[in-house]
Amino acid sequence: MSTRRSIIGGNWKMFKTPSEAATTAKALKVKLINVEAVDVVVCPPAIDVLPLVEILKETNVAIGGQNMHWEDEGAFTGEVSATMLRDAGCSYVILGHSERRHVFGEQDSDINKKVKKALSAGLTPIFCVGEKLDEREHGRTREVVKKQVAAGLAGVQLSDPADLVVAYEPVWAIGTGVNATPEQAEEVHQYIRELLGEQFSKGLADGIRIQYGGSVKPANAAELLSQENIDGALVGGASLDPESFTAIIKSAEKVN
Ligand code: 13P
Repeated sequence: MSTRRSIIGGNWKMFKTPSEAATTAKALKVKLINVEAVDVVVCPPAIDVLPLVEILKETNVAIGGQNMHWEDEGAFTGEVSATMLRDAGCSYVILGHSERRHVFGEQDSDINKKVKKALSAGLTPIFCVGEKLDEREHGRTREVVKKQVAAGLAGVQLSDPADLVVAYEPVWAIGTGVNATPEQAEEVHQYIRELLGEQFSKGLADGIRIQYGGSVKPANAAELLSQENIDGALVGGASLDPESFTAIIKSAEKVN
């Protein structure tokens, strides 16, 4: 861990109805009452954003979207815009998640348009990258991550490192119970920071938070988070349960 403030995100994916989300948010509100040293963001399904913003309004828990369209508005059935997320009370949005890339066919060029739109709308993108298992097995991790970073962030202007969060999520570690080892993750995080230095400047790259995502749970969080270039976690399954999500946040506080 470094001088960068940890950021723990919960990606609820397509879990929790509005009433289930409200119950979880109320539990989180109580459990996280004294958490101040770590940034916390919960990214629920779009339909749960408004009730969560209301329940968590006087807490340190920020709300984020899981995806958005790059246009301001229009005939795009099923989509939400950056302005809609912002107006509803979101401050973050996950972009380029591997499920968007590999289940819904999102391209780097789509993600690039979304990153630019999110920034101009005042949302902080949580920009996800990561290699698939066969890519890692063929020694292509760096090549894949480099292409995703270069294409996803092409032409992006940044003045404050706090305006962008990057999440390294190796696809083979997502929802599998097999996390990257702290050493495997740290190696890629360090490389991503180098790439961010080339894209922006070393100064900005040093301040950008890079989260690790993929089977993070209370049992492995502290070890992952204690790596120099791992500045937080993007948590899927373990974020659905207030108990385990809180335990991960408390680990982040300890290694801060
Ligand atoms: P799991 O924590 O369930 O592996 O999911 C990680 C993830 O995809 C977070 O965005």
